[in-house]
Parts: sequence; C-alpha cells; structure tokens
Amino acid sequence: MKQGVKDVLESGYEIGYTSGENSSNKFQFVISDNMGIRKWEYVYLKINGETIVGRIEEIVSKSDLLNNNMDYESIKKYTDNNINDFVNICLSTVLGKFDGNNLIQSREIIKPGISVFKADEELLNKIFSYNEEESLNIGYLPDNNVRVSVNINGLRRHLAILAQTGAGKSHTASVIMEELLKKGASIIVLDPHADYVFMKKKTDGKIYSNNVGVFRTPLSTGRYTKDDIGIINNFTIRFQDLSSDDIKGIMDIRENYTNLNSIVDDIYKKMKGKKDLADFLETAEKLPVEDYKKIKGRLTFLNKIKSIFEDYSTGIKDYLSPGKMSVMDLSGMDQFLANYFSFRVLSEIYDSKLSMEFRYPVFVFVEEAHNFVPPRRNSGIAGMIKKIAGEGRKFGIFLVVITQRPGKIDSDVLSQCNSQIILRVTNPSDQNAILESSENITQYLMEDLPSLDIGEAIIVGEIVKMPVIIKIRDRETMAGGSDIDLIGLLSEAREELRKMNDPDEIKKKNRSLLGDL
Ligand SMILES: Nc1ncnc2c1ncn2[C@@H]1O[C@H](COP(=O)(O)OP(=O)(O)OP(=O)(O)O)[C@@H](O)[C@H]1O
Ligand SMILES: [Mg+2]
Repeated sequence: MKQGVKDVLESGYEIGYTSGENSSNKFQFVISDNMGIRKWEYVYLKINGETIVGRIEEIVSKSDLLNNNMDYESIKKYTDNNINDFVNICLSTVLGKFDGNNLIQSREIIKPGISVFKADEELLNKIFSYNEEESLNIGYLPDNNVRVSVNINGLRRHLAILAQTGAGKSHTASVIMEELLKKGASIIVLDPHADYVFMKKKTDGKIYSNNVGVFRTPLSTGRYTKDDIGIINNFTIRFQDLSSDDIKGIMDIRENYTNLNSIVDDIYKKMKGKKDLADFLETAEKLPVEDYKKIKGRLTFLNKIKSIFEDYSTGIKDYLSPGKMSVMDLSGMDQFLANYFSFRVLSEIYDSKLSMEFRYPVFVFVEEAHNFVPPRRNSGIAGMIKKIAGEGRKFGIFLVVITQRPGKIDSDVLSQCNSQIILRVTNPSDQNAILESSENITQYLMEDLPSLDIGEAIIVGEIVKMPVIIKIRDRETMAGGSDIDLIGLLSEAREELRKMNDPDEIKKKNRSLLGDL
C-alpha cells in the first residue's frame, strides 16, 4: 500500500525545539550537538495539525559561559576540565504549509518549545517534483538523493543562468538542453566558444542524439575539427539575398555612422550586374573619389571575408524543426560578425513564430549574453534579444541567457527573466547586479553565493515551487570548451625541457641528424 502523507510525516525524526524569538516567517530551534544537521537541510514542525516546512539557513553555535570577554588561559582551564555550555541554534525560514502536494503560504505563529523534525526523503520528493511530462530533471538536493525537477512551464518567462567563470554555467545549460531534447523541444544555441558542439555525443563518444546539428561559418576558426565533431553544416549566405541593411551589418556600419550608411545605400541602388559581391565592389569603385576613400577600408574587409558568400543562404528550414537542436558555432569570429549571424538566425525565427508558420515552442540559449546585449544597445542582435525578452513568450520563443557578467548585460533583459539559476559568485558588484535583477533573490540567498561549490546552484523564480539550492546532475553528453589541463601540459613541458638539456638525448638527436646526412 502507498504510504499516506501522515505516515510519511511521522517517519521524520525529532531533532530539536524552537526557542527564543520566532515569527510566522522565521524560526529558530536548538539541536543537540550530535544530530549531524547541516545548513540548507529541510525541517518541519506541526502546528494545529498543519505541517509547516522550513529550511535551515544558518547554524550558530554559542556559549554564555565561554564568552568573548574571557582570555585564552581561562577558556583553556574550563575546556581542560570538560566544562562547556554551548548550544547549537538553527536559524530557519518558513517555506510554507504542506497541503499533501504543494507548499502554500503559511501565516501560523510559531511559538517557542515546539518539536522540530527533519524532513525525510519521501516528503522532500513530494515537495520538489513535478509530474514527469512537465519536469526537467536537472539535479539533486546536496547531501541526499532527492531529485529536484524544474517546471517547463516556468521557462515561458525566460531563464537566466548566472555565475562567475568556471562555476558551472555551461554545464548547467547543457543539462537543461539534454532535458529539453528529451521533451521534443526545438533549441537554438548561440555558442561563441564551441561549448556545445559535442552534444550529439555521449560522454563515452557514442551517439547521444541524431537531432543535434552544428552550424559553422567558413570564417569561424572553430576550436574543433570535423573529425572531432562529426558532420558540420556550413552556414553561408548568398550575397544576392542581402538587403542594404544586411550588408551594413556584415561591414559593422552602425546606425549612427551616417556617411557610411548612405554610401552603402548608394552602392546598393546603383548595382546593375549580377548583384553579387563582385558587382557590389565594382559599383563601389565607380563612386566619387571622396566617398570611395571613406568606404575603402570596409570594402577591403568585405573582400577578406568573401568565403561566407556562396550560392546558398542557410536559413530557417535548415536549423529549425520540431525536436531539433541547432548549435551556431561562432567560435573565433569577430563579435560584430557573430552578432550579424545571430541576428539573421533570431530574426528569421521571430518572424516565423510571429506568423505562426512554426507552431512549436523554440528555446534560444544565448551564451556570453553580455557580449550580444550590453546595456543600452538597441540595434541588431541586441534589439532582437530585447524584443524576444519582452514579447517572445507571446509567440512561443523562450530565452535562456547565460553570463558571467550580470552587471554588464542590459538590465531589461535580466529583469525579464523570471527565473534564475545562480551558481557561485564572489564578486560583490556581480552579486549586487543579481540582487537588483530579481525580486526572488533574498539577502539570505545572496549570502550563500560565495560558498557554493562548483555545480551547486540556487534556483529561484517560476521554474521552482520555492527557492532551492541544488547540485546540478552529471552531464549525459560530451563537454566542449572545458578548462585546459594546465597541470598535465606543464608536466609535458617539463619533460620536453629535460629532454632538450639531457646530454644522452642530445647525442641521440645529433646521431640521427648525422645519419640523415
Ligand atoms: N554539476 C557539475 N558536476 C560536475 N562537474 C561540473 C558541474 N558543473 C561544472 N562542472 C565542471 O566544472 C568545470 C567548469 O564548468 P563550466 O564550463 O560549465 O563553467 P562556466 O561557468 O560555464 O565557465 P566559463 O565562464 O568559463 O564558461 C567543467 O570542467 C565542468 O565539467
Ligand atoms: Mg561556460
């Protein structure tokens, strides 16, 4: 027989008693010394038959006898004689009243002297899970095996993944992508560092999914070769398909460069031949000398990047279909070109969603989002990301913005993200930017940010029933862009140096050189 809520709750065990000052939002309780209770654990207490669930935010150990006015010798005397009177006090927040399935708001007064129980795994499982179809299984509570799911519906109002470098942002994003793929989501990834190009493969190198495609422009230096990744789709553009504004984007001519803007418009209008790149360049040469001089540098650049112009414009039909994930590998490209390609992709998707041509939800992951949408930039890709942040949810485009510089990304975009996954952050100005970006983040949670381990995250907002600290699960897919093995490479460098200076090795080398003669 399935265990009822009542039985589950009674299987928790008593760990302490409320003491001192308590309120309906916060309570504290004294535990005995050897309970093994740790910060972030979940507890509950019973009031008038209701179950009030809380989380331990901090554990304070204090003594009235061994106080701060005592000197070293006196404290030593007491402790040598086993005289000590310390108490351990757990400071906890009230998360809500458990109604058998969910936590709802609690307004009960918590008095001193009430028993506090440790929440067991079965209760926690109930609190932290959603039904299978609507949940993404992204991790566990630290310290036990309780699986924590996030709710797909919460992604309707966008998600931000924030943390300092190396804390696990890309790992977390990959885990979410894996889960979304299992649910048949269409995913587009703007990937400036080729972090996601191996997601077709499992960690052991075998195929994970045939629904993952990597797109790369001929200009992208790419951190990995075709041999590493497998099939790579070329992302090319047919020059004839470009508008005058497109050409300006590729040449990094911004809206406020009035002269250059009108020169490009002029060339574009005057083209009479095939309207290809050669035609554009030839038409430019016929401009009045002054104009030609002004635009010459940009034309040289256009010629230098001519490999992106082919007979075919890669388009939405290539990278958007139900259940498919398309990784735009932008590695090694100048930022403004990466911006242009990203703009092309997202504006096509936006139009297609707006016209309802593509019915299914599209999830757009933007890595290094601060580079695409810095504060107060409205043109090109920045404007497009802002538009999606503001209105995308109405048409079924959902953003996941990833950044290690929360203070350097447009604040409108961050504040449109109604859920946040925040990993370790130690820099105070980044912490402040995070605090300002969301009303879900309390000072209590902020204080935990510096002490998180790699892969530990605070999740707040609509994707969870309540703020929770979790350990993100292992990846199922192969990682790209991981840290350089510094220690290993230094050891190889030392070995090489040793060989270069070793008399025997030098003799061996000289002998082989003489042999060649
Ligand atoms: N939950 C986790 N479990 C196990 N390993 C993890 C976890 N999260 C991150 N790591 C490991 O930590 C390292 C850094 O992670 P990741 O590349 O995701 O960090 P990042 O925040 O994206 O860094 P950057 O800002 O440099 O892009 C990687 O080697 C990754 O495998
Ligand atoms: Mg990363």
